[in-house]
Amino acid sequence: MNKYIIEAQNLTKDFGSGNGIFDLSFKIKKGEMIGFVGTNGSGKSTTIRSLIGFIKPTSGSSRINGLDSWEDSDKFIKNIGYVPGEISFPDLHSGTSFLKNQAEFLKLKNLDKANELIKILQLDPSANLKRMSKGMKQKTALVAALMADPEILILDEPTTGLDPLMRHNFINVVKNEHRNGKTILISSQSFEELESTCDRVIFILNGKLIAIANVDEIKNRNIRDFKIEFNNKDDYLKFKQYNYHILRDQEQYFQVTIEVLKSDLNKLLFDLKDLNVKFIAEIKYTLESHFKRIAKEEFGEEELYV
Ligand SMILES: Nc1ncnc2c1ncn2[C@@H]1O[C@H](COP(=O)(O)OP(=O)(O)OP(=O)(O)O)[C@@H](O)[C@H]1O
Ligand SMILES: [Mg+2]
Repeated sequence: MNKYIIEAQNLTKDFGSGNGIFDLSFKIKKGEMIGFVGTNGSGKSTTIRSLIGFIKPTSGSSRINGLDSWEDSDKFIKNIGYVPGEISFPDLHSGTSFLKNQAEFLKLKNLDKANELIKILQLDPSANLKRMSKGMKQKTALVAALMADPEILILDEPTTGLDPLMRHNFINVVKNEHRNGKTILISSQSFEELESTCDRVIFILNGKLIAIANVDEIKNRNIRDFKIEFNNKDDYLKFKQYNYHILRDQEQYFQVTIEVLKSDLNKLLFDLKDLNVKFIAEIKYTLESHFKRIAKEEFGEEELYV
C-alpha cells in the first residue's frame, strides 16, 4: 500500500485575478501531523477543500488513501473528520440533535467517544445550535468530526476564536489523536500552535507553497543566533574582522546579529573577551523566524508577508 495517505501533485485552483492556489505538491505520511500556515487569503482553505473533493482543481490533482480527491471523494469521505473554517450547521434546534444526526449518517452506534469529548471540551450540546457562540460551534464540530474515530483529521483553523484555556483543551484533544496514530492536517494563523503540535509545517503565501519545515530540525538546530551591541565603533569594527556570519548589520547602533555553530560558542566568548560589549542577547530560532527568513529571502520585505 502507498505509504502516503494524502498527496497533492501540482494542485491548482485558479479563481482568476491571481487568486487561488498554484502548483502545490506535497505528500503526507500515515500518522503525520502537518500544519498549514499563511496570511489571510493565502490559499489554506482552498487547498483543504480541494483535498477533500469539495472543489474541482483547475489542473493537477490530489489523492487521499490513493483515491482521487475529485473523482472518488464518496469512497473516502467517511474516513475523514473535517472541521471547516466557516462552520454552518443544518437547521436543527440543538447541538444534541445535530450530533445524533451525524451519528446516524456515519452509522455509528457507540457514542462513548462523543460523550468523552463533550466532557473534556466542557460542551453543553443541548444549547440552541444557531445561538451557539463561535467557540461552542467549533467544539460541536470537533466532536462531530472525531466521534466515529476517523483515520484522517482535517481541521481548518479550528482554534481561531477560542479563549486560551479552551484552545489548550482543544489542542490537547488533537495531540492525543496524533499520539493514537491519526493523520492530521491542521491550518492555523499561529506559528506557536503549529510548532508545538506538528511534525512538519507547510508555508503558503499568495497561493504558492513557499517552504515545508521539519519542526524537529528547527528545534534541534545546531546553530544559534546572537544580537551583539558594542559600546564604541572601534570594537564593533574589530569584531567584524573576525568574520562571523552576519545576518544583520546595524552600524548606526554598533550592532550585529550573527549566527554561530554551537561548537563555536567558546570561540565567540573568547573573541568578545577584550571588546567593550554593551549587550549580547540570544535570538530564539522559531518556526516563525524560520519562515520570516525564507519570506525575506524570497520577497525582500519580511513585514509585508508575515
Ligand atoms: N469560491 C471562490 N471564488 C473566488 N475566489 C475565491 C473562492 N474561494 C477563495 N477564493 C480566493 O482565493 C484566495 C485564497 O482563499 P482561501 O480561503 O483559500 O485563503 P485562506 O488561506 O484560507 O485565508 P483565511 O486565513 O482568511 O482563511 C483568496 O484570494 C480568496 O479570495
Ligand atoms: Mg481559510
